[in-house]
Amino acid sequence: MMKRFNYLFILLIFLLSSCASNKVQEKETLKSALDGKFYIGAALNADQIEGKDEAGLRVLKEQFNSIVAENCMKSVNIHPEEGKFDFTLPDKFVELGEANNMFIIGHTLIWHSQLAEWFCVDEQGNNVTPEVLKERMKNHIHTIVSRYKGRIKGWDVVNEAILDNGEWRQSKFYEILGEEFMELAFQYAHEADPDAELYYNDYNEWHAGKREAIVKMIQSFKEKGIRMDAIGMQGHIGMEYPSLEEYEASILAFSNAGVKVMITELDLSALPTPDRNVGAAVEASFEYKKEINPYPDGLPEEVSKKWNDRMASFFQLFLKHQDKVKRVTMWGVADGDSWKNDWPVKGRTDYPLLFDRNHQPKEVVQTIKNLALRN
Ligand code: G3I
Repeated sequence: MMKRFNYLFILLIFLLSSCASNKVQEKETLKSALDGKFYIGAALNADQIEGKDEAGLRVLKEQFNSIVAENCMKSVNIHPEEGKFDFTLPDKFVELGEANNMFIIGHTLIWHSQLAEWFCVDEQGNNVTPEVLKERMKNHIHTIVSRYKGRIKGWDVVNEAILDNGEWRQSKFYEILGEEFMELAFQYAHEADPDAELYYNDYNEWHAGKREAIVKMIQSFKEKGIRMDAIGMQGHIGMEYPSLEEYEASILAFSNAGVKVMITELDLSALPTPDRNVGAAVEASFEYKKEINPYPDGLPEEVSKKWNDRMASFFQLFLKHQDKVKRVTMWGVADGDSWKNDWPVKGRTDYPLLFDRNHQPKEVVQTIKNLALRN
């Protein structure tokens, strides 16, 4: 009888304490649970930067401690004509981050896509000389980076310069300057703000060819004494790709080569992909068909569970490597904001982020907090 009483007493204590610990975890936010492990960030669109998206901003301020500009710092927007800069949104973006004590990331200085038309050509549309392009890159980078010196803490200096097979992308920058453009971009950024962290940011880095090329680039930067702090691993992932092992292999390879890893642009599409090798190439576009937009009114329970489990397994991986991974940035705050709703097929309804269209946390948010508090 006494033994049974003891058993019930222990069970009661266990239930009460696990209830109390769940309550504590519910009170945690993503940023408080992940504190001391890595920053948790989100990309901001114009409505958020301008304060129009109140629900999105509420979630951002409550849950995230890092921000990156989704579009407003791309050359087409920030430097649309030679010598004519538009800092309206970028200034507000930086003020928002500072007012909320966030780790602010600038995105992106040199990118072949969303490239201002004038940048690499003369008035006749012919490629400019290497000297002219160097001067233009230097002026572009110096002007932007020095404006936010000490305030923007890390820059995506070059974006998406390497193809999945490890070859150089035939961008205008490469065509005119060859490989040197990459080093020059990092040098110019370092001159403008010697304390800023500098990153190379790309998608599909789990492809072996791209992984190896990036490792070689890190080694060459180290030999030449050029600053590069981290590799940004864009996380535009799907339900079937990549495998956790492929993704982990790249985290390890970059870290072993001597840089930190930032998980950037994370979103997990719940929709069928028309081509799993498409990566995040902005120019990709496939025709809309009803069958590739299967969940216009919400995710079925079973798919939602799979989605939550897969997102949780990626966060588990990031927590496993918290000594290497210094930031995880979601590519948007809530599902309705995501570029995935219109890419690579226009007009679909996707569910790629941690907060749903009503700005409610998905199940995985609680799972991430639990994992963070345990790991
Ligand atoms: O702001 C204009 C608006 O005035 C106009 O009416 C409308 C008409 O199409 O276009 C609006 O601009 C769009 C912009 O997003 C803002 O919504 C552009 O057309 C559209 O191309 C642009 O897409 C962005 C894309 O990069 C290209 O810059 C996505 O939002 C953005 O999520 C995506 O982000 C990239 C990363 O920077 C680099 N890695 C890949 C990632 C996904 O492609």
